[in-house]
Amino acid sequence: MTSTNDIRRSFLDYFAKNGHQPVPSAPLVPNNDPTLMFVNAGMVPFKNVFTGLETRPYKTATSSQKCVRAGGKHNDLDNVGYTARHHTFFEMLGNFSFGDYFKEQAIHHAWTLITREWGIDPDRLTVTVYHTDDEAFGHWKKIAGLPDERIIRIATSDNFWSMGDTGPCGPCSEIFFDHGDHIYGGPPGSPDEDGDRFVEIWNLVFMQFDQQADGERLPLPRPSIDTGMGLERVAAVMQGVHDNYDTDTFKALIAQSVALTRRPAEGEDRASHRVIADHLRSSGFLIADGVLPANEGRGYVLRRIMRRAMRHVHLLGAADPLMHRLVGGLISEMGAAYPELVRAQPLIEDTLLREETRFRQTLEKGLRLLDEATATLPAGATLPGETAFRLYDTYGFPYDLTEDALRTQGFTVDRAGFDAAMGAQKAAARAAWKGSGDKASDDVWFDIAEVEGPTEFIGYTGDEGEGRVVALVKDGARVDEARAGESVIVVTNQSPFYGESGGQVGDAGVISSGEGLAAHVTDTAKPLGRLHAHHTTIDEGRIAVGDTVHLAVDSARRDRVRANHSATHLLHAALRKALGPHVTQKGSLVAEDRFRFDFSHPESLTPAQIAEVEADVNAQIRRNAAVTTRLMAPDDAIAAGAMALFGEKYGDEVRVLSMGGADSDSFYSVELCGGTHVHALGDIALFKIISESAVSNGVRRIEALTGEAARLWLIDREAKLRDVAGALRTTPDDVPARVAALIEQGRRLERELADAKKALALGGGASGGAGPATEVIGDVAFSGQLVNGLDPKELRGLIDEAKARLKSGVAAVVAVNDGRASIAVGVTDDLLDRLSAVTLVQSGVAALGGKGGGGRPDMAQGGGPDGLAGPAALDAVRAGIAA
Ligand code: ALA
Repeated sequence: MTSTNDIRRSFLDYFAKNGHQPVPSAPLVPNNDPTLMFVNAGMVPFKNVFTGLETRPYKTATSSQKCVRAGGKHNDLDNVGYTARHHTFFEMLGNFSFGDYFKEQAIHHAWTLITREWGIDPDRLTVTVYHTDDEAFGHWKKIAGLPDERIIRIATSDNFWSMGDTGPCGPCSEIFFDHGDHIYGGPPGSPDEDGDRFVEIWNLVFMQFDQQADGERLPLPRPSIDTGMGLERVAAVMQGVHDNYDTDTFKALIAQSVALTRRPAEGEDRASHRVIADHLRSSGFLIADGVLPANEGRGYVLRRIMRRAMRHVHLLGAADPLMHRLVGGLISEMGAAYPELVRAQPLIEDTLLREETRFRQTLEKGLRLLDEATATLPAGATLPGETAFRLYDTYGFPYDLTEDALRTQGFTVDRAGFDAAMGAQKAAARAAWKGSGDKASDDVWFDIAEVEGPTEFIGYTGDEGEGRVVALVKDGARVDEARAGESVIVVTNQSPFYGESGGQVGDAGVISSGEGLAAHVTDTAKPLGRLHAHHTTIDEGRIAVGDTVHLAVDSARRDRVRANHSATHLLHAALRKALGPHVTQKGSLVAEDRFRFDFSHPESLTPAQIAEVEADVNAQIRRNAAVTTRLMAPDDAIAAGAMALFGEKYGDEVRVLSMGGADSDSFYSVELCGGTHVHALGDIALFKIISESAVSNGVRRIEALTGEAARLWLIDREAKLRDVAGALRTTPDDVPARVAALIEQGRRLERELADAKKALALGGGASGGAGPATEVIGDVAFSGQLVNGLDPKELRGLIDEAKARLKSGVAAVVAVNDGRASIAVGVTDDLLDRLSAVTLVQSGVAALGGKGGGGRPDMAQGGGPDGLAGPAALDAVRAGIAA
């Protein structure tokens, strides 16, 4: 028996030997086509080569391409398990000519390979051609020598192949294998063609057109060839079996689930084992190519596939999760041809186990509800859509799973009712939405989101991709197109641009198209938390709803944002380590040029604490550990020690970012986060705190820089230090000592200056001051003095001197400084029972045009605005003594 692995190898070898470049399978998520959910044919990765947009260093190629047909134009999910040939995952063998050979050579290769190399009996082969394709008819006749009745002309779309609603297409010719008259069915085009006797094994497409969205078919630059042979089907033929599920690969996979469940693949259980084997392949390959279960987009298709398989595991009576235990067997069968499976083994196993554990918790309850709902229904009846919706909403039963569960019991589901219930729930969510407060603009976003669904973010793994324009919004209203010079918000079905959320700014970049569009995106917002709204200015050409555009994030800017975002996680962890577990994040802003991080802590950080935090974060950066992302249920994540932000609403699946630390048991930081991060911590390069301040009571804010911004900041500081050193005529190292000396010198000069001023004031003469003279008022000695340009705080000294001189008496000094006058009065202790300096100074202050004045009975001070009233103030004190 020829194994499936041998058949794949000999196909590729045959075409390589005939000058074709062997090309490894592209990932299942197409990076060159926004209209496709998954790669669904061998030609998809070559789409732009056929249309002439892209050139490759070869003109003919061969591949074995991984394909998924679940969701989108080619969707086989519902049939899998119940037929001999439907799969969600399969491999398509193909040979391609990009304007090199055409029909004749393609037919020659196909015939030679299957009849000569592989020895398939020509008598069991029948071919079809498009009804008008006389050329292909002639080649078959000549090359294969087939009689006319085995070259069947078909007029339907069966013999005109197209990849999707748009893209390369052309008439095709199919090769059928006759499995024998013990199976019901007739040749293609006959009334019994739907039977399973004649099975298509190879489709040769004569690519000639590029189907446009508006229905027009443009000719391709050069006629080309695309062929597709289902590996599983041809394996069945060559292994002498009729059913794909009886080929070696499937037999091995099914043997595993039979052994683990101890339920033979017979009767009703047969379909369950087939579903499990098929869905194991699609789930495993999708996860290996970066798709993870989610509630939207590709991740949701994966979840539907996984949950469908898991329901069948349950039907087989397995008491524990099973799917993850089958991964090893899948890898033994297919890992050699697809090494990505081997690399992703732990991730595939983890993801399957987690999903199955969670799903089992709700499965039984949901199935019970379903049983109750159907118990009262007559045979062949329809389950109300409302019930199917409740199962979906409460128990996570995808619609098709409910349908599948009821199928064997002969019930159908009211799809319209399901859609109506879903619509009602959306309307309720819309009514409850407290968005921007601007109802008109919220309505626009709701309209877009409801019809088009959320934007799928494809920017975790890359920063470029294609998107289909689903809406354009200008000045709050939807428009159909925008032209050069206009600014418009572009919404696409998928985008690598991060929409501002979780503190991280939105991405900037460019949007372009093969049709001359050049536009730049200055920011990306995330209205309703679901749509990515690219704020775009059109530089050249035009953009219209329905266009396919190329979206490229400014990756240098994104890298800076990434580094800053990962640094906030490290900072958070370092602060908790240095200050204690009371530290929690209170907010953050992760921008391109800096970031800030707010956290709870009652007091400012000491310089030593700041230094410790900086050193810790930089040590993690230098160790350069990889940053890992996992997807988990929020409760599991928090139980595993992830820091969640209080008050933040998480979906039922969260991304968990782990970074740093010695190993996976002791990560330095584990946080729930939807942002974009560095791949390894060394990418951050450098971390520097530039400020620490208070935001409000109990909340501190740190601003910090990373990478080149941090380096430039340090260089700027150094330049400033050098400037200071230059001005001080010293070296940077000596600046502190030099500055200390200067400060000391400054203080000394200030003191000397004050002394000089005082001496000058008391010296009278040039300064205009009057020297002290003693007079007697009644029986009280009085010294009144007028000085100029003396600081008020010097007056007390003068009063003390005068009191010492008088021994018994009253001293008053008035000083005029910048037009203002100050007065001080002192009374010697022996006179305190009769006179108070406070009363006396108040009379003086009044004379100076001021108010108040105060101190103690032996020494009081005050002042007023009238600088010329000094003599009057002294007279007022004299009068006070005399009274
Ligand atoms: N692209 C062609 C197909 O998928 C060969 O059938």
